Amino acid sequence: MTALAARMGEEALKQRLAMEKEQDSHHYRHVEDFLHPEHLPSAGRMIHRVLTAVGLRARGRRNARRIRVGHNRVHLGRLPEAFEGCTLLHLSDLHLDVGRPYVDALVDTVRGLACDACVLTGDYRFGIQGSCAPAIAALERLVPVLPQPVFAVLGNHDGIALVEGLEHLGVRVLMNERTTLQRGGAQLHIAGIDDAHYFRTHDIARARDGLPPEACAILLSHTPEPYRVAAAHGFDLMLSGHTHGGQICLPGGIPLLTDCPAPRGVARGAWRCGHMQGFTSVGCGCSIIDARFHCPPEVTVHVLHGAMT
Ligand SMILES: [Fe+2]
Repeated sequence: MTALAARMGEEALKQRLAMEKEQDSHHYRHVEDFLHPEHLPSAGRMIHRVLTAVGLRARGRRNARRIRVGHNRVHLGRLPEAFEGCTLLHLSDLHLDVGRPYVDALVDTVRGLACDACVLTGDYRFGIQGSCAPAIAALERLVPVLPQPVFAVLGNHDGIALVEGLEHLGVRVLMNERTTLQRGGAQLHIAGIDDAHYFRTHDIARARDGLPPEACAILLSHTPEPYRVAAAHGFDLMLSGHTHGGQICLPGGIPLLTDCPAPRGVARGAWRCGHMQGFTSVGCGCSIIDARFHCPPEVTVHVLHGAMT
């Protein structure tokens, strides 16, 4: 834990551990807890009953296992020429311990996708409490078929145990930290922050610290919520998830809920804030219940290009 405190910041680690402990023994005393499906233990059962009653349970589950591969072209003015055409495979909101058939579908989807690196933007565990071991067991099947190297951040569903679980598999977890890809003497920086939605232990300044202003840098954040701060710190691209694109949407992909106080404009797909571009993944998994409607699960291949001419 001493090493982790030095990496993410002592106060941030202290805060995360205290909040994890509190979450595990939560009694759901507050009104907001009952209005928030993720914190309502019976929400999944209620939605399951409603979908079963209207004959849509099986279709919702089928939809959740039909994971598509999306493509997103990004033009970055400061991208070094050596990284022209660089591809990043982006997986978010994996929620792996929902069941083996889903993990099988995800492994089949990503196997053989040739990219230059892979980024994971958090939420490996299905629930928000309990052991991380089932999610880590599923990661043992998934990580070997991902393009290497793999960089990751934690989400609001993730316990700190996932840092060790992921790093044991060779994934570099960025806890308010940064790493650098090298190609032909040029550099592309990838920073990552801890969860800014529930734990709020993110530290964008720490993740960016020491980078010259002209450097090309990508920020991984579970949620798009701190997008304005990320833009103010000069990041070129922010990759996020968390919202699931709504997961259960009205026809046309209109979300009922996004569990995100950020504007709907940054809650799904590509967006922009000043000079920073962003992309919020709809996620490849599900939370609360393994069902999706009008919002197919997706893994995304981002293709990086220089400024548009
Ligand atoms: Fe999620």
